[in-house]
Amino acid sequence: MSNASHNTTGRDRILTGDTPTGKLHLGHWVGSVRRRVELQDSHECYFILANMHAFTTRADEPEAIRSDTLEIVRDLLCMGIEPERASIFLQSEVPAIAELTFLFSMLLPFNRVMRNPTLKDEIKVKGLGENYPFGFPLYAVGQTADILAFRPVAVPVGEDQVPHLELTREVARRFNQKYCNVGDKVEDEDHVAEGGVFPVPVADVGKVGRLVGIDGDNKMSKSLNNAIYISDTAKQVQKKVNKIYTGRQSPTEKGDPGNVLMQYCEIFIPDGDRVAELKRRYAEGDDIGDGHIKQELGAAINELLEPMRERRLRFESDDDVIDVLKQGTVRANTVTEETLAMAKEAAGLGFFARDLSFR
Ligand code: TRP
Repeated sequence: MSNASHNTTGRDRILTGDTPTGKLHLGHWVGSVRRRVELQDSHECYFILANMHAFTTRADEPEAIRSDTLEIVRDLLCMGIEPERASIFLQSEVPAIAELTFLFSMLLPFNRVMRNPTLKDEIKVKGLGENYPFGFPLYAVGQTADILAFRPVAVPVGEDQVPHLELTREVARRFNQKYCNVGDKVEDEDHVAEGGVFPVPVADVGKVGRLVGIDGDNKMSKSLNNAIYISDTAKQVQKKVNKIYTGRQSPTEKGDPGNVLMQYCEIFIPDGDRVAELKRRYAEGDDIGDGHIKQELGAAINELLEPMRERRLRFESDDDVIDVLKQGTVRANTVTEETLAMAKEAAGLGFFARDLSFR
């Protein structure tokens, strides 16, 4: 029997990803992609492009979803995700995910799905009122399938995704209890050892939080127009950095060492001694102007982005990006077809084997 979460190389398997709603920015880098780049050394990584989920709110913009999908893959590649080591794949071409979604939807009471705080938030923030499609709450069930299809031990995500992980853990427990004779007193970590198909995966929230936008008030986000994009030119970056508003009037005015400008320096200027010095002089009003600091900060951000800009040149054509997706999707299907077969077998749905192939 294959181990739940290890591949032949013995590495733990992880799965995380993005809904294509626009290109990636520094907030994505700080909050998750930087971590993913590290994880590809130590883990068997799968990164999902949740393009079906994008239809929950943008069913009338299929072309935009398609181009956002390709753009995000490009962003991931230029940030250092390597297609030889990590699998970037399309949700829409992994049928096991859709099939598990259907099966899992039977294990969850409807009102349990609707209690999910992330769903409730989205309904509020996006002003959906009562006018959301059936597929909107269904996507929360779908996300449990995105995850469990890979039988991962951990899912690296931001804070906002934790409720989805809670739901995922419930689905795993219920499935294992209902169809694999796992007792209801069995600890989460023991489910697989006790015969469960699915490990009960943990949310790996990590230490890095959210990056504030250049407005200094809100989380960096496309819709708030406060983002520095990975694909911005050096000039655009400097221009945006120059727009950061601190309210400070002169180089001798005492500055707030916790303000947005200083936060950015701390995150993006790699030399810790230099950051400490900047912060000290800033706090003391020791003859250091915002304009000067912004120059230094802009240069530091551009130094981070420059190698990414270079890598982008290799992935200009859509065909090359689609090739990467195809390669990753083939690998994702190898794993998820295996999971699906195990789940079907457990649920009495295992009648005959099948092979999937792409042309
Ligand atoms: N819902 C996530 C987001 O919008 C994207 C996503 C879809 C995801 N499926 C996933 C993240 C599975 C982690 C695991 O950011």
